[in-house]
Amino acid sequence: MEQRNLWGAATARRYDTPGTGMFAPEVLEPTVARLAELADGGAALEFAIGTGRVAVPLARRGVPVTGIELSEPMVEQLRTKADEAAIPVVIGDMATTLAPGTYRLVYLVYNTISNLLTQAEQVECFRNAARHLGPGGRFVIELGVPELRTLPPGTAATVWHREPGYLGLDTYDVLDQRVVSHHFHFDDTERAELHRSPHRYIWPAELDLMAQLAGFEREFRHADWTGTPFTAESRSHVSVYRIPAER
Ligand SMILES: C[S@@+](CC[C@H](N)C(=O)[O-])C[C@H]1O[C@@H](n2cnc3c(N)ncnc32)[C@H](O)[C@@H]1O
Repeated sequence: MEQRNLWGAATARRYDTPGTGMFAPEVLEPTVARLAELADGGAALEFAIGTGRVAVPLARRGVPVTGIELSEPMVEQLRTKADEAAIPVVIGDMATTLAPGTYRLVYLVYNTISNLLTQAEQVECFRNAARHLGPGGRFVIELGVPELRTLPPGTAATVWHREPGYLGLDTYDVLDQRVVSHHFHFDDTERAELHRSPHRYIWPAELDLMAQLAGFEREFRHADWTGTPFTAESRSHVSVYRIPAER
């Protein structure tokens, strides 16, 4: 399962769900408001910009946004909403690709650091964020907390979501810290359509260490974009890392 193949033309065409799911105003508005604040009047770079779910409203708010993205079909969808002059995008791997310029903010949302499947690539991703930032610049990550407490000993899979016509099931390899999400879509016939995506899950403390290796300090960790305190029960976090003002 190559990331490049996972984000092909068919997936890109059905990615946007305007007004609902991850495109719902109650999801996007606090995300964009917080990112605009963290950009602090400067330019932002989105790693894995996708179809511009976040970048398009952030740019409309007046923050100059550039992207790095592996999938050309995802960028084609972005181009139906914003041209290259409005939101420039460099095609490449967010762990290694350089975008021209220096930024106040690099951000990587919607669990996408877990699409890098090794610890080494994830650390490289932090180092690549640092390469794009000057002193005081920020790297913001939105990431789920690994749900291993739902996995009893001897069980390799959990159902994490169930609704009419959809079943979401995760299989775990706890040795390699990998999870494969299985998305089953079905109707009232006996057939189902299955989409799978592989991830390497990361503990919050491991994420902090990756940041430290790349020269960042943690500034904040909240449970969401509105600043809800992060606790042992939080299922997700927004972590803000910063390059010290004096290196
Ligand atoms: C869940 S989507 C997120 C897109 C967008 N950031 C958003 O919030 O809607 C994941 C995106 O990550 C991209 N991606 C996966 N691995 C990547 C990599 N190594 N470098 C750059 N983009 C990558 C995929 O092509 C896809 O567009």
